[in-house]
Amino acid sequence: MKINLTGESCHIDDKGSSCCAPAAEEEKSLKEHWNKAYLNSPDDKLGWYEAFPEETICLVEKCNLSPDSVILNVGAGTTTLIGFLLLIGYKNVIATDISDASLNKLKISLGDDKDKVKWIVDDLTRPTLLNHIAPVDLWIDRAVLHFFTAPEDRDTYFGLVRSKVKKGGFAIFAEYNLDGASKCAGLPIHRYSTEMLVRRLGNEFELTGSFDHIYFMPSGAERPYVYTLFKKS
Ligand SMILES: C[S@@+](CC[C@H](N)C(=O)[O-])C[C@H]1O[C@@H](n2cnc3c(N)ncnc32)[C@H](O)[C@@H]1O
Repeated sequence: MKINLTGESCHIDDKGSSCCAPAAEEEKSLKEHWNKAYLNSPDDKLGWYEAFPEETICLVEKCNLSPDSVILNVGAGTTTLIGFLLLIGYKNVIATDISDASLNKLKISLGDDKDKVKWIVDDLTRPTLLNHIAPVDLWIDRAVLHFFTAPEDRDTYFGLVRSKVKKGGFAIFAEYNLDGASKCAGLPIHRYSTEMLVRRLGNEFELTGSFDHIYFMPSGAERPYVYTLFKKS
């Protein structure tokens, strides 16, 4: 996939518009763009870094899953969430991302625990390998869906959610809310409210929890998110 990005630089005080990683200067593939973002910055300086992903863990705990449950973290990047899920005792964690560089960094930070995780490099908007995984007990997306600005990409993404969450399974979405920035990592954002996610997921998914959360970037700038938890009937 080719994307056309403008060379807007990242001004951390520019609350309404940009955020976090280096903006792209020319047309690049999405994968190259994200690989560059991860390779050019220490993890704890990325504009979405969390030392402890408290809000996500809180929603995971509400699901009351068994340790054998399959948890799929989409757009995992270098998140600390994977390490904490292992620490809590989950044995079937899958980390997927379009950026192989990010997953390689995450593997290094996990050390030997990397072998406890299943790794999948794939594009959520043009899935190949992900089409073949068995349905999971929990789908976790933090700060990924909001990058899908093309309606056809969102259609593919939500189709994957519908087919890859088990009946009785759960899905967590944590995205920029309607007060959020309009760009992140040099890319435009499609922002969400709880109602938008409810409408988009349809009757099969029941909303079981939702809250707004202000995330503070490493720079100190605020980024408002909406966190939602759904159960599939
Ligand atoms: C803002 S980062 C969030 C990373 C992680 N979820 C976290 O909370 O730390 C967005 C992530 O989505 C991944 N991503 C973006 N577009 C993607 C796509 N089409 N398919 C799969 N992953 C994608 C990026 O590589 C990046 O790791």
